[in-house]
Amino acid sequence: MISGHATLAGVMGWPIAHSKSPQLHGTWLARHGIDGAYLPLPVDPKELATAVAGLKALGFAGWNVTIPHKQAIAPLLDGLTPEAEAIGAVNTVIRQDDGRYLGHNTDGYGFMENLRQAQPGFDFQGKTALLLGAGGASRAVVHGLLSAGLARLVIANRSLERAQDLAASFNASFSDRPQVPCQAVAWTKASQAAEQAELLINSTSLGMAGKPPLTLDLEALATSALVTDLVYNPLETELLAWARARGNPAVDGLGMLLHQARAAFQAWFKTDVVVDQALRDAVLAS
Ligand SMILES: NC(=O)c1ccc[n+]([C@@H]2O[C@H](COP(=O)([O-])OP(=O)(O)OC[C@H]3O[C@@H](n4cnc5c(N)ncnc54)[C@H](OP(=O)(O)O)[C@@H]3O)[C@@H](O)[C@H]2O)c1
Repeated sequence: MISGHATLAGVMGWPIAHSKSPQLHGTWLARHGIDGAYLPLPVDPKELATAVAGLKALGFAGWNVTIPHKQAIAPLLDGLTPEAEAIGAVNTVIRQDDGRYLGHNTDGYGFMENLRQAQPGFDFQGKTALLLGAGGASRAVVHGLLSAGLARLVIANRSLERAQDLAASFNASFSDRPQVPCQAVAWTKASQAAEQAELLINSTSLGMAGKPPLTLDLEALATSALVTDLVYNPLETELLAWARARGNPAVDGLGMLLHQARAAFQAWFKTDVVVDQALRDAVLAS
């Protein structure tokens, strides 16, 4: 039950019907008895400017932004946070106390918080990681890892140029480091690069339901290395199952989705919420 004072938020995308975010935020709203609502907001790209003006006029506390609006929305907002600038995409809009709507990005935070919650003993400081993929989600991962003090990140991508662009962009923004942090390598060199990695991340869509499997030979990876997959459909990807079977600690990708949402929820509804098994179950059931 909501009142006339209800705080409004939602998720803007095209299409949007597949999004798990309404169930996710709805679970927190119900759990905390908050006078608020989180709505699916289908926005045709042609109507983006009108929709943004409308949500501002309606006084929304903010909203999530997903495909295909994550870049296009930036010039329609009143500014970007340093995270959104660095990642080059907006996944969350937050109304400020002065009424301005800022574009923010909580994906890097969500990625890091998922690992921190699942593997609290893992210290990123000074570590070397191998990142598979250089697509949209990869930028948030790189930003999160380098901000947490990771020393070296080898990025392997099918399209080498995309990995090189990603590495160059973050090497420029972290140019104060004593060692150049990012190195792009060809996809075929990933097996070799696995040998040095203390953390392995799959940020490609390989292994996702309906996509080809991840067939790289990663046997050179130490069994102490932490393995994580951004793919969460299926929850237990072949990569994670392989890692667990050989004794590697492994973390699934669902927590990234939940933790990026947690940061946004707290900003809009001013209520601390937690990511726990009951929430995971509720989202998986949806
Ligand atoms: N857990 C979460 O909260 C979360 C958040 C965001 C995304 N994700 C998941 O992360 C995955 C990537 O998302 P995205 O937004 O970054 O997608 P994207 O921008 O489309 O990037 C896809 C990536 O996968 C690579 N790839 C695709 N097909 C390949 C193939 N056959 N062989 C080798 N590499 C291939 C692409 O390489 P090229 O550059 O060569 O095309 C690129 O690096 C998706 O499964 C998505 O669901 C999860």
